[in-house]
Amino acid sequence: MGNMLEMKQIRKEFSGVPVLNGVDFAVGEGEIRALLGANGAGKSTLMKILCGVYHATSGDVLIDGRKAEIKNPLQAAENGIAIVHQELSMIPPLTILENFFLGKEIRKHGLLQKAKMREEYFRVCDELDFHIDPDVKTRDVSVAKQQMVEIMKCIHANARIIIFDEPTTSLTDDEKKTLFEVILKLKQQKKTIIYISHILEEIFLLADTVSIMRNGDMVGTFPKAEMSIPIISEHMSGKKYVEGQRLTSHCKKDEKPLLSVEHLSAKNGTKDVSFDVRPGEVVGLAGLVGAGRSEIVRSIFGADTKTAGRILVDGKEVKINHPAHAIAAGIGLIPEDRKREGVILKHEIYKNATLIQLKKMRSMGMLQTAREKNYTEQAIKRLSVKVPSLTAPVMKLSGGNQQKIVVSKWLDDRMKVLIFDEPTKGIDVGAKEDIFRTVEEFAKAGMAIIFISSDLNEVIRTSDRILVVRGGQILKDVDNQNMTQKDIMEIILQ
Ligand SMILES: Nc1ncnc2c1ncn2[C@@H]1O[C@H](COP(=O)(O)OP(=O)(O)OP(=O)(O)O)[C@@H](O)[C@H]1O
Ligand SMILES: [Mg+2]
Repeated sequence: MGNMLEMKQIRKEFSGVPVLNGVDFAVGEGEIRALLGANGAGKSTLMKILCGVYHATSGDVLIDGRKAEIKNPLQAAENGIAIVHQELSMIPPLTILENFFLGKEIRKHGLLQKAKMREEYFRVCDELDFHIDPDVKTRDVSVAKQQMVEIMKCIHANARIIIFDEPTTSLTDDEKKTLFEVILKLKQQKKTIIYISHILEEIFLLADTVSIMRNGDMVGTFPKAEMSIPIISEHMSGKKYVEGQRLTSHCKKDEKPLLSVEHLSAKNGTKDVSFDVRPGEVVGLAGLVGAGRSEIVRSIFGADTKTAGRILVDGKEVKINHPAHAIAAGIGLIPEDRKREGVILKHEIYKNATLIQLKKMRSMGMLQTAREKNYTEQAIKRLSVKVPSLTAPVMKLSGGNQQKIVVSKWLDDRMKVLIFDEPTKGIDVGAKEDIFRTVEEFAKAGMAIIFISSDLNEVIRTSDRILVVRGGQILKDVDNQNMTQKDIMEIILQ
């Protein structure tokens, strides 16, 4: 099979720093290719070059064996290349139809051809067997549906190569299934798919072949049948794979709880939730997407409005009506949606990392930049964050490294309780272990930890106790002695 797309010796530097060191990448028609690599390996950069978002420092792109000029997204589209961005690019107040035709409206003598546009829209809907009301406002539509409309746009633009960059991070299990069905359908239509994800299970489900990058180099391309999680991890990291172990428990069972939640209810659906977390204890929250796990911790943290109940830290009641009150009481939350709540993308790395520690960074009322940088440098070392410099804006970091900066904010000894809400989202296999090590370190230091993950295996590996959540309530509080995924799943589904 000839390669319909070839990228040859692609180099890319950002202000003199090499990010891609002569990458070769080729895909055949109708192939689903997974593109894997640790955070910061260069996956998104390589794809952005293909889409005309970035310009390669050198190297060629060939389509059907002919050299293609791709200087901007328009030229990429003309060459049949489209991308479904992780950060959706649609404009929320416009209708689905308006977004679908944004910049490509059909006009005759300057007049919008509404009927014709609807007709085309429905044709694409039929083609994918996906139906969504064209007249609803985009902001009223779930992320999954918006993503589907993005895919429809790719089809409408006659794309032959469709790139998915971590498409499943905000989807529920059902929505993921629909997405996978659509991708397989695209394959049948001979579309070429390039699929980036850190969730290796998805790769085994979807991909035909796997390309693995490491530190700006292409390690190689392999048939899926030859791959396993250990082999992939070793190619990604260049290090021997060690199976993830249970964290060592540091729970001080005989001590008084550091955090007590008593009969907490909130407007977000949290209902009469009570539990304790002891010093050094990791309490995991398990449940299906939509079970109300994030809602519970947001209510504790003061991000959502409580309607009843009390929070005690170290045996003393604390009034928390705002995240600032929670932080003052020693409770930190690493939120699920880092783009919205975790970091200020335009600000420097060291400013983000020290955001909640401003007091400590001051001396006689003056911010001490040296102190801030010193703190950040240490945090970056502890979490192995890959950064070009401490003063670069967070925006310039790869997705996973942004997440590590969010975590680094809380490496603060004044904190007593730390809540991790899906901290491993978008994080590569190796970096997940870094996050787990950090959780263990926090626990060892005697902090009380709450840990949420959609990956049950992660909850089992980290937690001393597991609270199973459904409908904003705690269904069961179990000691995690020898729990398996199956045990927990049975409780979730009972
Ligand atoms: N606009 C930019 N300016 C400077 N450096 C950048 C820019 N975009 C990316 N980089 C750097 O290029 C490297 C590769 O980043 P890229 O986003 O391609 O990684 P990735 O493989 O997609 O990682 P992730 O899995 O975390 O999304 C990183 O070290 C990143 O900091
Ligand atoms: Mg990326």
